[in-house]
Amino acid sequence: MQKKIFIKTFGCQMNEYDSNRIYDSVKRIGFIKSKDLDNLDCYVINTCHIRDKAKEKVYHEIGRVKKKYNKKNKPIVVIAGCVAQAENQEMINREPYIDIVIGPQSYHKINEKLINFVKDKKIEETEFDTVSKFNYFDNIANKNSKISSFLTIQEGCDKFCSFCVVPYTRGPEYSRPFDKIISEAEELIKNGAKEIILLGQNVNAYSYKKKIKEYRISDIINKLENYSELKRIRYTTSHPRDMTDDLIECYSTSKKLMPFVHLPIQSGSNKILKLMNRKHTVEQYVEIYEKLKKINPDIEFSSDFIISYPGETDKDFNETVNLIKKIKFINSYSFIFSPRPGTKASNLKLIDKEIAKERLIKTQEYLFKFQLNMNKSFINKSIDVLVENKIEGQSKLFGRNQYMNSVIFEGNSDLIGKNRNIKIEKVNQNSLFGKIEKNNMKAA
Ligand code: SAM
Ligand code: SF4
Ligand code: F3S
Repeated sequence: MQKKIFIKTFGCQMNEYDSNRIYDSVKRIGFIKSKDLDNLDCYVINTCHIRDKAKEKVYHEIGRVKKKYNKKNKPIVVIAGCVAQAENQEMINREPYIDIVIGPQSYHKINEKLINFVKDKKIEETEFDTVSKFNYFDNIANKNSKISSFLTIQEGCDKFCSFCVVPYTRGPEYSRPFDKIISEAEELIKNGAKEIILLGQNVNAYSYKKKIKEYRISDIINKLENYSELKRIRYTTSHPRDMTDDLIECYSTSKKLMPFVHLPIQSGSNKILKLMNRKHTVEQYVEIYEKLKKINPDIEFSSDFIISYPGETDKDFNETVNLIKKIKFINSYSFIFSPRPGTKASNLKLIDKEIAKERLIKTQEYLFKFQLNMNKSFINKSIDVLVENKIEGQSKLFGRNQYMNSVIFEGNSDLIGKNRNIKIEKVNQNSLFGKIEKNNMKAA
């Protein structure tokens, strides 16, 4: 008999990719993905540990499941992801409702854990076994093709920025074999993917050596360029130190690599970057920006900022603001520094809460202003949009332009997966709204 499973996913795109791959795996032992959350056999919470309150979110979610199953047989409750890795056995000790805790590099063992699960016998599995995990998943077809599909090429991190949990939750850097990545991309494309987003915690640190050849992310991009059905290539998240010339060169040779670079800098102050152990300077970052702009002036940037890292003075903060004004990032993430247990920065003296808040507000004022200005610049222009899906309950379609902006317009579902020129009529902070251009001759 088929059993029902649901995975609630928090965190980054890599967690989203992992949740889909877990579905692919458990299907082999009779679990099917369920939309109805009332009669589940297994409830997985795929967690994120990047900032404060992540852990509390998980316990809150468990509370909701508990309430739902108050008078019914409870599902097997599995905690996966980065909180699972960081907290492991402690989670089971604190919340007996949890049955299995499994870390991100142990997902190849999930079928075995579920099959052998015996009520009240708790399981904790948090070994870093990345190679076995990917070997296992290489033999399970990725059946999660969407118009825009994720493909993990690299995992983990060796950089140890002083604020960040990722090296502890995802383990050391690992790059998947080049040919396995290409096979997975082919499967995604065969099943309808028109855009592939290459994923990794440090995606541009990708390095796979076979005999004398070292494959880099540029090799993956160049190879994907040859698939005629594939229209767009993106990658995230990259690190400035790994922005090598071969990757920069792709922006002049590839027609499919989108001219939108998400390149986290964290701070505009060299002093703070040093304290963060970022291993790059503001000048090096600006140099990358200038090289890319020289290749194609239409390339735009987004970034991540940590505001009020311990030791940040007004001067340091103003340097961050100046950098934002210089680059005019069109879309970015910004958060106040959140001390993470186990990291080097966990016990440093925090900046006063009110000052930190004020600085975040000021940062976001600039970031939102540049984002809105960019959106406004599309008004009355015709832009190329890859149509991704129909908006539920409406006659409208959703797609994205080259800069990942959401574009919403009237149209028929048969346009899904095709590119159309959309004339933009109005915009808000997050989306563009328009109409399909008449005489739209853009190649499908
Ligand atoms: N590897 C990417 C890089 O080097 O920039 C970042 C990946 S991390 C998963 C995503 C973002 O979370 C970071 O860029 C950073 O801005 C944010 N982040 C990580 N740790 C944080 C912390 N302790 N407090 C606030 N933000 C944090
Ligand atoms: Fe975290 Fe990125 Fe730094 Fe690695 S490079 S420690 S993932 S912020
Ligand atoms: Fe969160 Fe882990 Fe991703 S901490 S951001 S889910 S790598």
